[in-house]
Order: sequence, then C-alpha cells, then structure tokens
Amino acid sequence: MLASRGAEIHGLTGFFAILDSVGRSHVRSLRDFTGSVRISPVPGTCVIGLQWGDEAKGKLVDILTENHEIVVRYAGGSNAGHTVVSGGQTWKLSLIPSGILRDGVACVVTGGVVLDPASVIGEIDGLESRGVTVAGKLRISDRAHVVFPWHVAEDRLLNASVAGGEAIGTTGRGIGPCYRDKVGRALAIRLGDLYRADFRSKVEHIVGIKNRMLAAWQTADGGPEPLDAADIHARYAAHAERLRPFVTDTTAFLLDAVEAGSKLLFEGAQGAMLDIDHGTFPYVTSSNSSGLGVSSGSGVPGRWVNRVIGVVKAYSTRVGGGPLPTEQDNATGQRLRDRGNEYGTVTRRPRRCGWFDAVATRYTARLSGVDELAVMLLDVLGGFDAINICTAYEIDGRRVTQFPSHVDDLKRAVPVYETLPGWPDELTTVRDYDALPANARRYLDRIGELLGRPVSIVSVGPDRDQTIFIDRTGSAPCAMPKPRTPATT
Ligand code: GDP
Ligand code: IMO
Ligand code: MG
Repeated sequence: MLASRGAEIHGLTGFFAILDSVGRSHVRSLRDFTGSVRISPVPGTCVIGLQWGDEAKGKLVDILTENHEIVVRYAGGSNAGHTVVSGGQTWKLSLIPSGILRDGVACVVTGGVVLDPASVIGEIDGLESRGVTVAGKLRISDRAHVVFPWHVAEDRLLNASVAGGEAIGTTGRGIGPCYRDKVGRALAIRLGDLYRADFRSKVEHIVGIKNRMLAAWQTADGGPEPLDAADIHARYAAHAERLRPFVTDTTAFLLDAVEAGSKLLFEGAQGAMLDIDHGTFPYVTSSNSSGLGVSSGSGVPGRWVNRVIGVVKAYSTRVGGGPLPTEQDNATGQRLRDRGNEYGTVTRRPRRCGWFDAVATRYTARLSGVDELAVMLLDVLGGFDAINICTAYEIDGRRVTQFPSHVDDLKRAVPVYETLPGWPDELTTVRDYDALPANARRYLDRIGELLGRPVSIVSVGPDRDQTIFIDRTGSAPCAMPKPRTPATT
C-alpha cells in the first residue's frame, strides 16, 4: 500500500508503476490438476464516498480505470450523478460506470443496482452519439431489479409524507420503492424477468395492486393517474429488446474474472453517510452505499478487494433532507457553493455546504475499511483566511467523538471546531504535493491524522489532469487511531 510521505511522483505513469509493483506481486490464479482453483489475492480496488455523496468519485474512477480491466457499479441507481471532465469535454454519468470513457475496459452493472431501463438507454445513446463505444464493453446483470413507473409515483408520494416531519428529499427516481419491492419480493421484477413468457401477466398483476395502493395514498392535491398495464408492458418489452445485448449473469462473469486474476475497480455510488443500515437513517438512500455494499451488490467476496480508497471533499456537502452538523447556512456556505459549483448533478438542487466533518468521516472510513484517502476539491478552499475542521460534537453538553447512531442525537450535535490557517493561492495549476502552499499541506495532513489514514491523492480541479498523487513509500504510515472504549471524551 502507498503508505508514507516521500518524494512526489510526477504524472500518472509513475503513480501506476508503484501500484503495479504492489499489485503484481500477486500471482495469477491457476487451475491445478485436481480441478480446484487457487486464487491469489486479486488486486481489487474500490472507491467509496465517505460523506453524503458527490465527493467526485466519478473523476477518481475515471483516472484509476487506466490501471484496471473491469469497472464495477454495485449499488444505487439513477439517483447517482458522476461528472468526469477530460480534454475540455464534460461527461455526466449516472448508472453506467465512469470507466466507460476508456477503451479496452469492461464495465459491469451488477445485481445490487436498481435499473431504470429508459434512463440507461438514454445514457447509452448519449455516450454513443459522442463517440464513446458502449457495445461490447457494458454488461448488465439479469439480477438487477427494475424501476417501474409505480416506483417513481410512490417515491414522489412517500417523500412528502415521512414520519417525523422533514422530507428525505429523494431524487424522485423511484429508488426507495424499487429496493423496498426487492426486499418484499412479491411485487418485484428483475431484468431477467423481462425476457420470460410471464412478463406481461406479472405486470398486469402488479399494476392491479399498485393502482389500489396509489389510490389509497392520494392526497388532497390529488395523485398520479392510474397506471396502464398494457402501455407499461409494451414500453418495457421494447426497452428489454434494446438492452438484450448487454444483459448477462454478471456474478458469473466477475467470479470468472477474479479467478483469472483480472484487476477490478469497484465504483461506489452515493456516500457512506447515506448507507441504509449505517448512515443517518432515515435520511439515507436505500442501499449499502458504504464499502460494506461491495460484496453483496457485486457478488464478489470482500477478500478479493485489497485496496479501499475513501473519497472526501475538502469540506462537506449534502443534498436533500437530514442533519448536516457542520452546515454553514450563511455567507461561508454560499461561498463554498459558488466556488465548488455545488448544485446536484441529477436534480440541480443547490447542495447544502459546510466545513469538513472529521467525526463523520472517521466513522465512515472505519466502516468502509479505508486504507487511504483522496481529498477532492481542495482548490475550493483557496482564499479563506481560516478553515474549520470539526473534531468533535457537543450533544447536550457532552463532548462526543463517536458518531451518534440515532439521527435525533445528530440533529442536536453542535460541532467543535479546530481552526487552521487558510491560504490565499489558487491551487488549480498545482501538480506536485511539494508545490502546494504549506497551509494546504498542513490541512491535508490534519485530515489524514484525524481519520487515521494517509492522504494519497489530492484533486485541485475537475479535470483529469488536475490531480496530485502523493508517493508515501518509505516513511511511516499514519498511525491508526487507538480503539476508544467510552462513547464520549
Ligand atoms: P460524484 O457523484 O462523487 O461522482 O461527484 P459529482 O460528479 O456529483 O460532483 C463532483 C463535482 O465536482 C463535479 O462537478 C466535478 O466535475 C467536480 N470536481 C471534481 N473534482 C474537483 C476538484 O478537485 N475541484 C473542483 N473545483 N471541482 C471538482
Ligand atoms: P452520487 O453517486 C448525493 C440523496 C438524495 C436524498 C437521499 C435519498 O452522485 O454521489 P434517493 O433518491 O436515493 O432515495 O434519495 O439520498 N442522494 C444523493 N446525494 N449524491 C448522490 O449520488 C445521491 N444519491 C442519493 O438527495 O437526500
Ligand atoms: Mg454525484
């Protein structure tokens, strides 16, 4: 692992040479004469957002794809919006992995994803029309659950009526209702079902039930029009034909790839704070968006992932409802929003902005088994006289460094800040760690210390090239934080 600070490595080639020297010490798997399989530790990497999403995972995945053979999207759906900027062109991806922009790479959408066929077809067409080859590169799991119009209708109705008042502020893409039907099983349809003889009767059966449910959820303002089973069946049957060349058993494909020693890159969607089980429930998405979801979503056992990169913004953002303890609903927040262009990729909603929260991200780094950190959008902090990092919360007068498990406690959390000096410089042209202003390096070091993981990648602008790789070979890695028994300090 890239573990300690030393000389800067110039350019991607040097960086990947180091990764290779680590990764290629693993021998390829061999089938021995008994037919059993010996699998050496395969160099699987995953990229996980440690905040509330939009940490610039897409940019990082695009860069790291150069050193991988297969890029895997394992959770979420069209709620994700990943922006990649390269060579003066901007790409907005949602369900298709950001690796699609590189040639010679297989991109896999696994069964852990919920898939809106029209949205994926739109993405495929959009990419092909701009000269990006998708055919032959993209594989979509026949196990992926399909988002239908009733999910979108339910999402809109339910989002407005959360128990406890504040709306979750979903992306309105039917994500929660589709995952709910997956777990509920009786009303679920997977992609593979679209090619079976009973697809039409399944749609008719479910539409009958959903129309009764939707009618019961009508509000005073009315509600959605009743669903038309024949129309939905016809549209989805046409989508199924369009998608047929891409649909396959991706679990088998990935397990074969693991045995063949292929280099896999897992692309996280959303952020770990939005994890259905471990995030700020109920203000979360409906999948395991932390590193914990990689295996269940993809079908690849976690033991084959040997490098976990935690991605953070140099500050915090959140779009939608729920607590954001370090939120700056003031001129500072507006300045972050303006400089960082913080408007949702999917919904264009203004993102809520605040200072970096080391309590939250230390928790999600541990939860996701993070080895190293990528700190993105550092350039946005240029020009602040002083920069705050939240190192603890005060809840009802008690100082807490352990992230609260109940959202009501988090709502009462008052951040305790450590203030670091800022830097006046623009960072967007800096390419070497050593060329960063001393205060920017100090800020990065402090994040690494607080999270107990080294910062190995720094981003200073949206473009592929605006990236700094830090070679940490040779000196001691950041100390892991000591286990803390009491919940408070
Ligand atoms: P994702 O969902 O995690 O892939 O992130 P998004 O793409 O939704 O949001 C990140 C935004 O920040 C995108 O608009 C990127 O183009 C942009 N971006 C990425 N890295 C940097 C950076 O280092 N500096 C600045 N200013 N913008 C960046
Ligand atoms: P990427 O991959 C930021 C948020 C929504 C809402 C909550 C639940 O681009 O980082 P959902 O539609 O999933 O039921 O909404 O989760 N959310 C995201 N916020 N980035 C994302 O994805 C998000 N995906 C979902 O705003 O608060
Ligand atoms: Mg995004």
